Amino acid sequence: MNFLFSLQRRGRACGLAILIALAGSVAPGAGAREPLAPGPWWQHAVIYEIYVRSFQDSNGDGIGDLKGITQRLDYLQELGVDALWLTPFFPSPNFDFGYDVSDYTDVSPEYGSLADWDELVREADRRGIRILVDFVLNHTSDQHAWFRAARSARDNPKRDWYVWRKGSSDGGPPNHWQSIFGGPAWTLDPASGEWYYHIFLPQQPDVNWNNPQLRAAMFEVAGFWLRRGAAGFRLDATPYLVEDPAFPDDPHPESGPPVWLKPYNSGRPETHEVLRQLRAVLGGFAGDPVLLGESATANIAELAAVYGKNHDEIQLPMNFLIGNLQALDAPTFKRQIDDAQLKLGGQTPVFFLSSHDHSRQWSAFGDGTHNDQIAKLTASLTLAPRGTALLYYGEELGMGDLPPQELAQARIGPKRPRADERDRARSPMQWTGASGVGFSSAPAWLPAARAAATYNVAAERADPDSILHWYGALIRLRHEDPAFASGSYLPLETGNAQTLAFARMSADGSGAVVALNASAQEQELRITGLPAHAQLREVILSSPAAHAPAGATLRLAPYGVAIVRLVAP
Ligand code: NOJ
Ligand code: CA
Repeated sequence: MNFLFSLQRRGRACGLAILIALAGSVAPGAGAREPLAPGPWWQHAVIYEIYVRSFQDSNGDGIGDLKGITQRLDYLQELGVDALWLTPFFPSPNFDFGYDVSDYTDVSPEYGSLADWDELVREADRRGIRILVDFVLNHTSDQHAWFRAARSARDNPKRDWYVWRKGSSDGGPPNHWQSIFGGPAWTLDPASGEWYYHIFLPQQPDVNWNNPQLRAAMFEVAGFWLRRGAAGFRLDATPYLVEDPAFPDDPHPESGPPVWLKPYNSGRPETHEVLRQLRAVLGGFAGDPVLLGESATANIAELAAVYGKNHDEIQLPMNFLIGNLQALDAPTFKRQIDDAQLKLGGQTPVFFLSSHDHSRQWSAFGDGTHNDQIAKLTASLTLAPRGTALLYYGEELGMGDLPPQELAQARIGPKRPRADERDRARSPMQWTGASGVGFSSAPAWLPAARAAATYNVAAERADPDSILHWYGALIRLRHEDPAFASGSYLPLETGNAQTLAFARMSADGSGAVVALNASAQEQELRITGLPAHAQLREVILSSPAAHAPAGATLRLAPYGVAIVRLVAP
């Protein structure tokens, strides 16, 4: 596949973008891409999230699997991604589709085997792609051997590996804390008369990170996957590892911060030590392994703290202050992106706008008229700033959510007779427009979106103006243009609240300006904040084709994006 790059003639507005193929489309061999950026690989990476159940089925059972991912590695290499984050593929009763792990060191038969994992790592490595394992370290399944032992008797040595409390004097749960998934965060164990704590489902009991044996066992799990070739971990639910030891009652949990940000259930100071120790485990392995954290915080100062006082905890905390934005508002995005660049102590920001827990970008931000163009704009918001970008599978095609009526009809298995609302963004990867969308020869576990007839890899490969080619061009810029590979970030002003702009600057003062129009009307913007005498030159990438700048003034089409070369004085 050749990703094409739209280049505009210098000096005057040009209706037709000239399409040129950038240098050879495929990086040859393992790690062969010459890094333009100093520092560890993850500081500038594009990490592609694969919902394993939905990416590629290799054995005709309608469920995606590890072998399927191996079969699609060439596509991922051509797209230019640096690493994959695989959602949990371990044995699980699937109450939360793998986020309820019953064995941390094996592969669920529905996803394959450890041998399939080894082959995937080997083949990915040959293509210069690393793999992150999803480490669900806040809770296990209630079917995990650890919990079965803990539950078997109050004096079982593993009892304290979980969080148990006596009920309140009126026979109810120990306090009024709520689960993030709704309902009380406590479930009674009738045999012992005690309650166990679960911030998610009752089938997902929280482990007790204060217990040294539990801690050691979890670190052993990390070592298992690192020895088996993992390049690090996406850490699930990190804010919730430790609870307030006083378990203070909260008779009104519905008031104050949302249930996922209560001072007693999240962001506890004790968590820092756990994460420092886990980071030290990674430090014993070669290849700069990384921790990518699911680190929801209330503000940028709390996010800065997740990196650790000495930057020795999570290298890549996901920025939910941006990831949870639901409206395309230019001043909000500008403030949040500027904050991520300037208020995290120089650490690497992590940008994402979708995941297996969120709506897809095409659906969340689309206005019903300009959705494809908006998908290109939101791609630019995550891929053009300095930092690490997460790309959820299928976003590069403009995949949309399954509509609620289709989701309501989907029957997906005995544990979940009805689809979860989040399943809207988990439909099969759209490889072709044929029935089965190239995902499986059998009916898929969740139906493919009807729009797959238009939005699929095969069709978009053939269309140089497709969302797929736009993603390819942006990723290529990150690898091949020094300003995007390792340049600094410079916030800019545009004098127009419907737009935002920033620059990426190389050490020699040259670079590029990224300008975006977040409105459905054409907008004019006048860039200020550039270094003295720096000049805007030609548009190097735009959608739709943008007018060349007149001095510092640019005109952008509805939801238009232009990346303009900046020349040093
Ligand atoms: C966060 C995961 O992303 C989500 O899918 C899961 O349900 C919860 N953590 C519980 O593990
Ligand atoms: Ca399968």
